[in-house]
Formats: sequence, C-alpha cells, structure tokens
Amino acid sequence: MMQQNLIDPALRTTLAGVPMVSPVLTASGTCGYGPEYAELLDYRRLGGFTTKSVTRHERPGNNPERIVETRAGLLNAIGLANVGVERFIAEKIPFIERMPTSVWVNVAGYDISDYTFVIERLDEHACIAGFELNVSCPNVKDGLMFGTDPRLLREVVAAARAASKRHPMIVKLSPNVTDIADLARAAIDGGADALSLINTYVGLSINAETWKPNIANVTGGLSGPAIKPLALFNVHRVYREVAQKANIPILGMGGIQTTSDAVEFLLAGATAVAVGTALFVDPTIPQKIAAELPAYLSKRGLSHVSELVGRFAFAK
Ligand SMILES: Cc1cc2nc3c(=O)[nH]c(=O)nc-3n(C[C@H](O)[C@H](O)[C@H](O)COP(=O)(O)O)c2cc1C
Repeated sequence: MMQQNLIDPALRTTLAGVPMVSPVLTASGTCGYGPEYAELLDYRRLGGFTTKSVTRHERPGNNPERIVETRAGLLNAIGLANVGVERFIAEKIPFIERMPTSVWVNVAGYDISDYTFVIERLDEHACIAGFELNVSCPNVKDGLMFGTDPRLLREVVAAARAASKRHPMIVKLSPNVTDIADLARAAIDGGADALSLINTYVGLSINAETWKPNIANVTGGLSGPAIKPLALFNVHRVYREVAQKANIPILGMGGIQTTSDAVEFLLAGATAVAVGTALFVDPTIPQKIAAELPAYLSKRGLSHVSELVGRFAFAK
C-alpha cells in the first residue's frame, strides 16, 4: 500500500512476469545480499534487488587487492566470494523475506550440477522473485566458459530452467565474446525468460613503479562509466537481432549513473536497467533515477515508461 504512494504509476512494469514499481534495479555483486544497503537505499522504491552471486559452496574469493579504480571505472576480481547456498538460506533468506522489493538471486557455478544444486535448494523460497544466472565463470571441466560457448550456454540454461519449478530465469551475458547475439540466441533456446547484459569486460591495470599488476588476480572485470557506450551497443544489438523478435525482455546495465543514462538503455531496447558501480559513489542513484523518470516522460507527452523501450531512432 505504501509503495503505491511512493512510485508513479507511469513506472510500473514487469520483468519476466515479475511486477516492479520502477524499471530501476541494483546489479549483482555491488550491494551484497540486502542488509548491507538497508540504511542507505529505500528498497520500496527499487524495481528489484539482485544479490551477489551465490555458489554451491562457500568461497573466500581471490586475495587482495581485489578492486582498483581506473580512470572512468572499476576493475574488480572478487572471485565470487560468497557464503555458499546453505549459509545463504540460513543467514540471508530471513532478511530477504522482509525486503519490500523483488529479490533476484544471482547464481554462479563451475559445472552444470553447481547451478542446478543451488537452484533446487532455493526454489521453494517464495520470497525470491527469480534467478539470474551468472554464466561468466570458468567451466573447469571443459576449460571453457559457459558464457562464451553457445552450446554450453544452452545446456546450462536448459538444466537450470528444469531445476526451477516456480521461478523465472534471467541469463546474464558476458560481453567478452565475438558475437553476443549468438549467446543471446543460445540462452533463449535454453529457456531464458529474460536476458541481462552486460557483465564486466576483462581488463588489466599495471603499477608503473613496481611493474606488477594492481590486482592480485592480474586481470579483473571493468565496470562503470568507461563501459557505458559498449554496454549500450550490446543491449541494442541483442534487442534488434534477437530479443525483440523472441519477445524476451532485457535488463540493461553497464555504467549507468544518471536518469539520461537509464533512458539511453531503455531507448536501446532494455525493458529495465540495473545500477552497479555507481552505487559506490551514491547508493541512492536507483531511487533518484526512479524519482526523475516521470518528469522526463511527461515532458515528452509519454504516459508510461514502456513507451521508451526500443525507440532509438535507428531501431528496426
Ligand atoms: C565489485 C563488483 C562485483 C561484482 N560482482 C558480480 C557478481 O558477483 N555476479 C555478477 O553476475 N556480476 C557481478 N558484477 C557485475 C555487475 O553486476 C555489472 O554487470 C557490471 O558491473 C556492469 O554494471 P556497472 O557498470 O553499473 O557496474 C560485479 C561488479 C562489481 C563492480
């Protein structure tokens, strides 16, 4: 009831069938499991919250340094540090049950059974809106990555889809591929209900004094404003080549900091957007964007945010 007064009806939308009070969510790995940002972000104003990746077993992650600032972004190699699914259920689910927004659990794994194990363990929990599959981790068995091989991607998505009886599945695509449209097609063939893109770009930062990498893992994933044009390009490409025809919604992300950034992603074809790195600068950015969007719409005579989706002038 409270939510209805907080958010403009022009922003109400859905993602993979899940109703949202706004099209602005948080991105995985940048806001913990929920409690960490509870004092800083008004969850009632969020379209949804995405947890950091949860794996079958608890993981300490990589050694420090795990994050370094770059000129227009962040390079991170956290290494999927997380509490593992059993502690997630015992320690995090009780808080998530009380969160006044849709919570998407991001799931990562090293082989297919890792994904299906986590999903089967979590599927009974009605407080979860759905799953977001992080398919950008090394697949140890094949020496490949799910997110870069269409055949493996279709297989893991199909297995994950079959493991959940009640929840929608977003598949998060990696931009570190030759043709992201092929991966989008594979995810949809496997049964994805929505696509999220993009995850981070592989990058490197070197200390010119020590000649050593600034991140212990050597390489990291680049995020933030530096990748925004690249993310926008990928969202538009996937929308135009695959998602629009398949009627599969896109959750767009990569460098979003302002309302006009969010609008650009919607125009490029995203149904909703997520804010990640910018939360470290100002955790209230998602709710600020949600507060500013209605004025953007009414100034242009639009009555609903969905009227922006895919309206980029070159969209076919
Ligand atoms: C510190 C950090 C940790 C992240 N951890 C995860 C993660 O656990 N799982 C995942 O799917 N994406 C993770 N991401 C990627 C973000 O969710 C997002 O896809 C990416 O950073 C692009 O959005 P942004 O530029 O708004 O941050 C992480 C990003 C950052 C900066």
